[in-house]
Amino acid sequence: MLKINDINVYYGNIHALKGVSLEINQGEIVTLIGANGAGKSTLLQTISGLLKPKTGEIIFENEHVAGKVAQSIVKRGISHVPEGRRVFANMSVEENLDLGAYLRKDKKGIKEDVEKVYQLFPRLEERRKQLSGTLSGGEQQMLAMGRALMARPRLLLLDEPSMGLAPLLV
Ligand SMILES: Nc1ncnc2c1ncn2[C@@H]1O[C@H](COP(=O)(O)OP(=O)(O)OP(=O)(O)O)[C@@H](O)[C@H]1O
Ligand SMILES: [Mg+2]
Repeated sequence: MLKINDINVYYGNIHALKGVSLEINQGEIVTLIGANGAGKSTLLQTISGLLKPKTGEIIFENEHVAGKVAQSIVKRGISHVPEGRRVFANMSVEENLDLGAYLRKDKKGIKEDVEKVYQLFPRLEERRKQLSGTLSGGEQQMLAMGRALMARPRLLLLDEPSMGLAPLLV
């Protein structure tokens, strides 16, 4: 499903990813483990189009996506739950979920998916009118995941998803 061939990513002069290759097949759950600063978040950001590799290829479902703009990668089916949640703090839970479906037009499907997210995380439904910035850390993590699921991704990238969540939810 996803094939990464020998990518190199730089922040200015800092060589953050050195020749990373990785293959992920449909249905797999793949965990990336490494020390602080190893480049895990950098790799996810590169897959989702927030960073461009200087060299190397990223192939998602037989299409070259390295360097494509992030929204076009979301459209192809990759959603990213960033490290540190990054919810839209001044918007409600409901509005954050709506934004997750920004590129979709199937109103009925969107409504169904909001219900699915609320089933998965009942706490979010209870708090659907609340400003996201005032949610607890764990609730914000649930919202970040719910927002990503609203795009109906084929591939879900989760950066440190267990951060702040109860063991039961993890
Ligand atoms: N915007 C940036 N500008 C310069 N250097 C950066 C930037 N973002 C990350 N780096 C550097 O790139 C390297 C990889 O960082 P990255 O955030 O990918 O690590 P990580 O594996 O996710 O670490 P952690 O487990 O702490 O989240 C680090 O040395 C970091 O300092
Ligand atoms: Mg990280």
